[in-house]
Amino acid sequence: MSATAADDYDVVILGGGSGGYACALRSAELGLTVALVEKAELGGTCLHRGCIPTKAFLHAAEVADTAREGERFGVKTTFESVDMAGVMSYKNSVVSRLHKGLQGLVKAAKIEYVTGSGRLDGPRTVAVDDRRLTGRHIVLATGSQAKTLPGLEIGGRIMTSDEALGLDHVPARVVVLGGGVIGVEFASVFRSFGSDVTVVEALPRLVAGEDEAVSKQLERAFRKRKITVRTGARFASATQAGDVVTVTLESGDTIEADLLLVAVGRGPVTAGLGYEEAGIAVERGFVPTDERLNTNVEGVRAVGDIVPGLQLAHRGFAQGIFVAEDIAGLSPTVVDELSIPRVTYCDPEIASVGLTEAQARERYGDVATYEYNLGGNGRSQILGTQGFVKVVRRADGPVVGIHMIGARMGEQVGEAQLIVGWEAFPEDVAAFIHAHPTQNEALGEAHLALAGKPLHAHS
Ligand code: NAI
Repeated sequence: MSATAADDYDVVILGGGSGGYACALRSAELGLTVALVEKAELGGTCLHRGCIPTKAFLHAAEVADTAREGERFGVKTTFESVDMAGVMSYKNSVVSRLHKGLQGLVKAAKIEYVTGSGRLDGPRTVAVDDRRLTGRHIVLATGSQAKTLPGLEIGGRIMTSDEALGLDHVPARVVVLGGGVIGVEFASVFRSFGSDVTVVEALPRLVAGEDEAVSKQLERAFRKRKITVRTGARFASATQAGDVVTVTLESGDTIEADLLLVAVGRGPVTAGLGYEEAGIAVERGFVPTDERLNTNVEGVRAVGDIVPGLQLAHRGFAQGIFVAEDIAGLSPTVVDELSIPRVTYCDPEIASVGLTEAQARERYGDVATYEYNLGGNGRSQILGTQGFVKVVRRADGPVVGIHMIGARMGEQVGEAQLIVGWEAFPEDVAAFIHAHPTQNEALGEAHLALAGKPLHAHS
């Protein structure tokens, strides 16, 4: 044990996911003594049950589609089948390499890594089995878990993303309940793997957090991919009998499937961990904080999915790093929620940052938008993808939102983020030359058009 006999540290972190381990690594780098408590595996949801394994599935899905579509590019290929055991071992090998790397980083940083279920025991102590770790600062980073609906029990053919990531076969028919981020990513995977897929979404559109134009384009693309989309459809009940799960909607319609994937959101993990007993305010399961991520109890911070806001790994990383630097007295700039990039890795891919058109109109009144169609972009045509880059600016002001859909659009989000984060004007961006032929040009052209000098576009 590298800690003092009293098990006393500068920082004790509860939860070793994206937020927690980023905070631990940065704290150690800044010379603070750190204990990191994790009940399952270092890396948390993102590495073991979220971002990484799902993106490995999505890549396997893309490979399957490429094999199917060779002919389109003059290459004779045949698609035989998806071997789930093979997909699983590919996914597991990616996860395990990253896991080993992360374990190495934590060890090298001399972080006291404690395996076990931790519990807050007063505002300065985390109890793990018979150990009591005390800290000058406590950081709560216990993350989130898949939610379900009242009366909808997970088990058998009714799964969340956790179980679906362990499937040993490709189900013939899948109902995805929830057309949010997880729902559309899994719908995309299953369709590429060969399943018949129906997405059931209560709201009037898929990915309702995105700009409306993006939802429309995604629904159109999903229809083309023969994914059935039922929006404005509320779930009523589901029953399992034999090999079939039957989903009933409030309208009375029923849908039969081999698997029901429940993707109705993720809820914070804060219950039974001693938070409230230690005086920490918990609202609807979340831990509210100020902008410096302080909870209402002095010396206790919170990061990641338990803090209300976007549930994204990179937000957790940023918050974890922020807290470490703040504790070390570096006075870092607060994490700005609005310039956090968002990527949904379904096919077609969605990437966005900043305000949607509707949000910008509500906030600023007068806005101008431009939608550059990927039909005018050479590289996108080579890839055979459809979609657009939509830019939202304040009238005669800076760009406040960028919304993109189409193959590989996630790769464009870096520049989009700089534009929105640095409050660039379209005229500023227009001055930069975008390499030809890249998909990145579409971003350049959208700004050229908004700046009043379109090239391959109609103003
Ligand atoms: P979500 O909040 O994005 O979507 C849940 C959807 O389920 C909503 O559209 C909601 O209207 C719908 N729904 C709720 N109750 C319903 C009902 N009774 N009947 C029909 N539809 C119903 O949550 P999701 O997709 O589970 O994802 C959880 C979190 O994980 C999100 O915050 C997301 O940002 C994050 N995540 C991020 C990824 C990424 O960045 N690529 C990938 C996967 C998840």
